[in-house]
Amino acid sequence: MTMPQAHEDASTFWEGHYAKLTQPSGGRPSAILVRFAGGLVPGRALDLGCARGDDTIWLAKQGWVATGVDVAQSAIDAAQRVAENAGVAKLARFARHDLNVSIPDGAFDLVSAMFLHSPGKFDRAAALRRAASVVGPGGLLLIAAHGSRAPWSWADPDTVYPTADEELADLSLSPSGWHDVFVGPIERIATGPSRQTATVIDTVIALQRQT
Ligand SMILES: C[S@@+](CC[C@H](N)C(=O)[O-])C[C@H]1O[C@@H](n2cnc3c(N)ncnc32)[C@H](O)[C@@H]1O
Repeated sequence: MTMPQAHEDASTFWEGHYAKLTQPSGGRPSAILVRFAGGLVPGRALDLGCARGDDTIWLAKQGWVATGVDVAQSAIDAAQRVAENAGVAKLARFARHDLNVSIPDGAFDLVSAMFLHSPGKFDRAAALRRAASVVGPGGLLLIAAHGSRAPWSWADPDTVYPTADEELADLSLSPSGWHDVFVGPIERIATGPSRQTATVIDTVIALQRQT
């Protein structure tokens, strides 16, 4: 993944990224999503930064009416094709949104933002505040972020990763409106683009909106 130019917008960067991928997506859902959403009663889900749809399609296979959104049209076109081939196109839907600007309307039972990181112009805290605003009563807001740098990452080696508590503070959510399900680091073995592995830390925020 080439480092973006400072002026590059999210769409240009991510379309360029997906244009270079020659293999289909692996089809594996995020471990954090499976851990926190696997036991929930399916309802309406929103997957932010859905890429080529692995998480959205997994949710649809569990019975969720799942909407995946991404800034890269080519990624969501690929996701749509996979959903159709998997027979879940009625439950897995995709829409292009630049989360700097917009988010689908609604009151979702699950809003998931797995590694919604972007170089170039991206106000992550503002996008996540917008994500919180579309969680319905009793719904789960699930956010996973990189808490350490994988050896193959495009991130600057000097990157300082915020803790889950710091990231939660940035969201400025009303403490009385949310119940903490989990806020903290989770370690996992990650697999890189050449199938190499390394232990990484994910920073996870899982909050349930009060009814
Ligand atoms: C690091 S990838 C993570 C993909 C996936 N959620 C996962 O866990 O593997 C970030 C994704 O967010 C999308 N993205 C980046 N900036 C965005 C923006 N401003 N609006 C919507 N999607 C964005 C990218 O196109 C990319 O698919």
